Amino acid sequence: MNRSILVTGPALSPSAMAFAAEQNVKVIPTRPYAPVEELLAIIATEQPGAVIVRQGQFGRELIEAMPDLRIIAKHGVGYDTIDIQAAAERNIPVTIALGANAQSVAEHAFALMFSVARQVAWLDGRMRGGNWDKATAKGVELSGKTLGLIGLGSIGGILLDLVAPLNMQVRIFDPYLKTLPERPNISRESDFERLLEDCDVISLHCPLTADNRHLIGAAQLERMKPGSILINTARGELIDSQALIAALRAGQIGGAGLDTFEQEPPAADSALWSLTNLVATPHVGANTQESQDRVGLLAVQQIVAHWAGETLQPRSVVNRHLLPTS
Ligand SMILES: NC(=O)c1ccc[n+]([C@@H]2O[C@H](COP(=O)([O-])OP(=O)(O)OC[C@H]3O[C@@H](n4cnc5c(N)ncnc54)[C@H](O)[C@@H]3O)[C@@H](O)[C@H]2O)c1
Repeated sequence: MNRSILVTGPALSPSAMAFAAEQNVKVIPTRPYAPVEELLAIIATEQPGAVIVRQGQFGRELIEAMPDLRIIAKHGVGYDTIDIQAAAERNIPVTIALGANAQSVAEHAFALMFSVARQVAWLDGRMRGGNWDKATAKGVELSGKTLGLIGLGSIGGILLDLVAPLNMQVRIFDPYLKTLPERPNISRESDFERLLEDCDVISLHCPLTADNRHLIGAAQLERMKPGSILINTARGELIDSQALIAALRAGQIGGAGLDTFEQEPPAADSALWSLTNLVATPHVGANTQESQDRVGLLAVQQIVAHWAGETLQPRSVVNRHLLPTS
């Protein structure tokens, strides 16, 4: 067994690196978003026994170039950049760091909500440009409003509690959710269109799958309440960005807070940048010291456990249904 891990991106957090050293594991970081040719050259020399996917795509070509590969661990939870089918064909589990970055992403979604509702980012930019918009700026309160959560997993579950002190009512759309947590302020909504029509804020917390690309398009934006706010810290392709730009420009919805984009980074001349009711951050929902520590450490722990023949937590293996041994 080759006890080395290729990391597609910078070195892991100090606690993860210390754990790897303790376990006699060599960690091989790369440049951020290193091109395939560069990764193939590293693979040819090192033949790692595991990969931690941080940045960029990890597709079939790379997987097939790694005869010693036993496991792929996503440094996070969004695994749409990994060819889980190609991995399964080689009986390679693909794991995610289930829940390890959820607190940070939930807090970021909360921050985006406030920033859009009170025009924080926009007014900051205006002040830096010498403007004083006291007479004209007008926000909305979040208190008492209705929040629609699309997906109630690790992140949605934390956001639920973050908004509770604001007396927000939370409506949850998650077709795969077995039981609703017991909270006084929440209810289930199985009618997606009704959710769109009734909520003041809609926040996306589901994975991007083969079936839900452009879950929010022109028709859905049209159904949303006038003045409502759309938050996306999940995946950019869940929203049709052209339709969103049109809806924001027309003032059809109140505003949007986006941490993820259909194209990352969006083009420098994207129409997004002309929108005054948009708050954008560069896919940094999980970028906190605390989250990076937990995610990096968990990824190395999963790899070491799998190498040792231990059973991985089933929910963390995202291609378990495709594995020949399942
Ligand atoms: N911005 C960031 O930096 C960042 C960081 C972490 C995760 N994310 C994104 O957030 C997503 C959610 O993360 P999580 O940790 O809460 O995941 P999770 O797996 O714990 O929860 C996802 C929930 O979505 C539900 N779901 C699946 N498909 C759905 C659909 N079509 N409609 C409604 N609900 C659906 C599932 O039943 C599950 O309850 C991830 O898939 C990832 O894409 C982004």
